[in-house]
Amino acid sequence: MINKSGTGLVAFEDASVFIQQRAVRNWYDELMRQMVPVSFDFVQTPAPSEAAFFRNQGIEATTSFERNRKRVETSLIKLVRFVWSHYNLPRRRVVEYGSGATGYFDAVLRPREVQEWLQVETNPLAIAENRRRNPAAQVVEGTYYDIPYRDEELIVGLSSFDTASNLSAAIHQVAGALRPGGYFLHVQDVRPGVHFQREYLKKAGIPLPTKMFEAGKGNPIGYIINGQPSSSTDIFQDAMGAAIHEHHDLELLTNRYHTLVEFQPGDVRQEVYFLNLYLELGLPPNAPQRLRETTMIVTLAQKVDR
Ligand SMILES: C[S@@+](CC[C@H](N)C(=O)[O-])C[C@H]1O[C@@H](n2cnc3c(N)ncnc32)[C@H](O)[C@@H]1O
Repeated sequence: MINKSGTGLVAFEDASVFIQQRAVRNWYDELMRQMVPVSFDFVQTPAPSEAAFFRNQGIEATTSFERNRKRVETSLIKLVRFVWSHYNLPRRRVVEYGSGATGYFDAVLRPREVQEWLQVETNPLAIAENRRRNPAAQVVEGTYYDIPYRDEELIVGLSSFDTASNLSAAIHQVAGALRPGGYFLHVQDVRPGVHFQREYLKKAGIPLPTKMFEAGKGNPIGYIINGQPSSSTDIFQDAMGAAIHEHHDLELLTNRYHTLVEFQPGDVRQEVYFLNLYLELGLPPNAPQRLRETTMIVTLAQKVDR
């Protein structure tokens, strides 16, 4: 049952979806509890500029997500199908920003009844790889900092607006491109990037952290903020909410963790996919079936006539 704040539990097909303000179990928080934070300097825009960085990035920046996505692909597809049906989203004319090298949103996650999907991406190498993999897809070069389209029904991103250091400017462009009643949908299914975080923390008046929990060189999964571990997934969720609230012609409909819970035939174990973190955990021997929990952050806003 969904309550007034839009959180709760919904039955969907043979599964259940938990919609929560914060994840009941944020697995990055669990990871951080086992780690020692390291000192770091919160460097902003990647050199020489954000635009140049993303235009020239290697394709492995997005192909690397595939390994864990493939392990739970049927669940990711089901969760996105849930999003379209639960929020009753348009099924025609979609513009996607930041589709990467695999075009995963269109190629794999798109509910099949959703048609006329245009992908826009800033990185020519990623575009070439995407066209090679998905010859029938419509993919063009462009940036969410300068959106030329108007009167759009639905603008979407899959783990792509987290790359914007100026999230508010990108959302401003989205708002200008939507028709009144049109939607912006962002699905974050991998750990958010770092670039939006500094601007958001500064705007929110949060002192820039000097300690981070590092997953790989310069790759934070969270920080110490006000003496407490804070995951980059929660910071991203807050940054998205704040960027949308800045735009008076956008109404935020949801900005929550969505977790699909399924029991599946197979050996007895628990599988967790939490924004691209994949874990296999043992279950008690008398547990009936395999339990799989798949989590992403879903942000949905609608343009209103004000
Ligand atoms: C984390 S990747 C996600 C790619 C893909 N959506 C996926 O989930 O596999 C972020 C993508 O956003 C693209 N990107 C970065 N800045 C952009 C901009 N200003 N406009 C459009 N795309 C951008 C990057 O090149 C990259 O392909």
